Amino acid sequence: MVKDVRIARAPARTVHYNVRMSTALITGASGGIGYELAKLFARDRHNVVLVARGADKLAQVAREIEALGVTAKAIALDLTQPPSPKFLFDQLQRENIAVDILINNAGFGSFGDFARMPESEVLGQIQLNITALTELTRLFLPSMIARRNGRIMNVASTAGFQPGPLMAVYYATKAYVISFSEALANEVRKSGVTVTCFCPGATHTGFAARAGNDKSRLFKKLGAMNVEKVALDGYRAVMEGRTLAISGAHNWLVAESTRFAPRKVVTAISRWVSERVD
Ligand SMILES: NC(=O)c1ccc[n+]([C@@H]2O[C@H](COP(=O)([O-])OP(=O)(O)OC[C@H]3O[C@@H](n4cnc5c(N)ncnc54)[C@H](OP(=O)(O)O)[C@@H]3O)[C@@H](O)[C@H]2O)c1
Repeated sequence: MVKDVRIARAPARTVHYNVRMSTALITGASGGIGYELAKLFARDRHNVVLVARGADKLAQVAREIEALGVTAKAIALDLTQPPSPKFLFDQLQRENIAVDILINNAGFGSFGDFARMPESEVLGQIQLNITALTELTRLFLPSMIARRNGRIMNVASTAGFQPGPLMAVYYATKAYVISFSEALANEVRKSGVTVTCFCPGATHTGFAARAGNDKSRLFKKLGAMNVEKVALDGYRAVMEGRTLAISGAHNWLVAESTRFAPRKVVTAISRWVSERVD
């Protein structure tokens, strides 16, 4: 659960951190949680580098964010393509843009039996949710350590706390993100760099329609959180340098309960939650 540290007199849905101006690189910034995070960084006067595939939408978001008085650079890239992280890193190096805050947010899920899932869906999830996230972290972390200043936030999911029948690969990729991020946070604990793993639960974004689980019990019956609230929880978590933050008290409770229940029971409940109810 993200601790409430809202600054006095700030309106209920905003929070401001008084930090020096810096540059935040946000993947998956053209929609959903990444878009909301980009606006939060810009409102606190951080310049932003925005990455997603759709160039038009990204350019539109960049214009919107520049209207907040910061620089917004849009780089259209498909991070499921293996050379993309290095291409992004090299372009920013050439342009002398130092990344102080890396938000590995881009990710997708795919609903269905693993045995029938197309190869592109299986490998695409692993490439985006695991490989690109790891590669971007590997590329940007050393210069942060050299400057003794930096923040990395990897967006995992409450899906990472248990196996996920019907979304087996997605849940497994998010388990990787949690494990990797917690270990890395420990490794760099005295370096001036913080690593945060942020775990949203079901959230109203384009995610569920893309995944094909918008008709699941999770999204139809159990309910999803508001994306602005979730992004604000993530923003707080990274700015406070928290190692692991789960958005929403109910999500925190569910994630914690999986540690004590028998794994077969946890897996069966996880399947029930993902099943279609249409
Ligand atoms: N929404 C949820 O219920 C939920 C719950 C837990 C965790 N999460 C996690 O939160 C993160 C953000 O999800 P969201 O809900 O905000 O999803 P979303 O609304 O679908 O937005 C995804 C963003 O990532 C970009 N993107 C997708 N594929 C990409 C690729 N191959 N290369 C580069 N950019 C790509 C999209 O733009 P383009 O399509 O133009 O590329 C978009 O900007 C993900 O890691 C997701 O796993 C979401």
